Amino acid sequence: MSDDLQKRIHEAIANPKNLGEMENADSVGTVGSADCGDMLRMWVKFKEDAQGRKVIDRATFQTFGCETAIAVASVATELIAGKTVDEALSMSGSDLSAPLGPLPPMKIHCAQLVEGALRSALTPTAAPVPAASPAQPPKAATLFDSLHSGTSSEKKVKIVLKQPGS
Ligand code: FES
Repeated sequence: MSDDLQKRIHEAIANPKNLGEMENADSVGTVGSADCGDMLRMWVKFKEDAQGRKVIDRATFQTFGCETAIAVASVATELIAGKTVDEALSMSGSDLSAPLGPLPPMKIHCAQLVEGALRSALTPTAAPVPAASPAQPPKAATLFDSLHSGTSSEKKVKIVLKQPGS
């Protein structure tokens, strides 16, 4: 990894943007990397822009991932603010990590983890955000909780990214 890239990653993780759960999110997506076992969850809130389009108001994330995944998620959540769902879905992992510069081959899957979580949050099949209920709070409110609230293998998820043009 180049010194420049390492420096930008360290700058991003020293002050990560949009880190943490979003309580009033409209959608949430969680993915795990089949390459390394790391996981990332992204929350998205929408708003209507001046032209009446539904756009991403803001996005936040939590991750058990490497420094690169944290850095990419940080810059990606800033990049997608103000974009429509289609615009955000058209962004690849390299688009989302562009502010950091090109990633080495061994770190490309880290950006794909962010892309996968974003796609999961933005697609209609994305799991709905658990409704907050004072009487029965959701058991897996955070990524940490969801990873540690059970031992069954059904909690494992795998990223399946669409190939361009497919
Ligand atoms: Fe797993 Fe980077 S090494 S996301």
